[in-house]
Amino acid sequence: MTTPAIEVSHLYKAFVAAGTSQAKLALDDVSLTVAPGEFCTIVGPSGCGKSTILNMLAGLSRPTMGEIRHEGRLVTAVNTAIGYVTQDDNLLPWRSLQSNVELALELRGVPRSVRRTRLRELLGVVGLSGFESHYPSELSGGMRKRASIVRTLSYNSSVILMDEPFGPLDAQTRVILQDELLRLWFVTHDLVEAIALSDRVIVMSAAPGRIKSSYEVSIPRPRDVFRIHQAAGFAQLYDAIWTSLREEIARTHEEPHEPGPRNDLPTTEVGLDVASSPHF
Ligand SMILES: Nc1ncnc2c1ncn2[C@@H]1O[C@H](COP(=O)(O)OP(=O)(O)O)[C@@H](O)[C@H]1O
Ligand SMILES: [Mg+2]
Repeated sequence: MTTPAIEVSHLYKAFVAAGTSQAKLALDDVSLTVAPGEFCTIVGPSGCGKSTILNMLAGLSRPTMGEIRHEGRLVTAVNTAIGYVTQDDNLLPWRSLQSNVELALELRGVPRSVRRTRLRELLGVVGLSGFESHYPSELSGGMRKRASIVRTLSYNSSVILMDEPFGPLDAQTRVILQDELLRLWFVTHDLVEAIALSDRVIVMSAAPGRIKSSYEVSIPRPRDVFRIHQAAGFAQLYDAIWTSLREEIARTHEEPHEPGPRNDLPTTEVGLDVASSPHF
């Protein structure tokens, strides 16, 4: 059997809110395995723990219990072998676009001329040619996001994590990037996009996050994101995933506050807004 790209076993994460001694469970026994080359998308209501899982996969945060392996090796520290496009673009404000996107290769000791050549093409693909000397404050949110995606794609890691990466992007850029993003683990807020890109869509429960259901997407590739809704099997799959997801979103809205001392815990404002998807 080939070694999985990612193997998560019985993962729990509890956070203690600042100024209290109360721990709140954010992830409750999450186990999942992603095969090499598999494109896996996680959907779930806001606050169910999607970003928390990705942070732990990248080694930026430690599990309270449970284990994470990347290509068989236990993740115990920041894992620079995994590419991670975080929800915020994380560009350094004092560096130009060019030197921001080069940073990952620079830190790996790749010579400047090689960096420039490798990045020129990727910057062109996402429509950033001509903006190399601009600083992040001179770029739109979508351009900054594209730059951080290019930075992550530049070093050819075997696993790439992306946290709602297409939020600020226009439809055309999304489709262009789709071609580039072949081996990803991916958190999205658009269910159509999730189905179009993925081999598997995983639905998480409302907090504390558990894996609720998992759907194989057997629609043949290459896929056309604009026509995916016409593909055989798409409508049934969309209905099944949306039904599962909607129950969890409803649970989140029914219970905006938990009783007792947990009330004053901070919550993230990360949106999951499938219903307002521009495709429907
Ligand atoms: N550093 C942290 N400290 C305390 N609570 C946190 C922290 N990070 C996340 N949480 C909590 O964990 C839960 C899951 O958050 P998150 O993973 O950001 O959800 P999602 O990405 O699915 O919207 C939320 O209740 C959030 O408030
Ligand atoms: Mg999030």
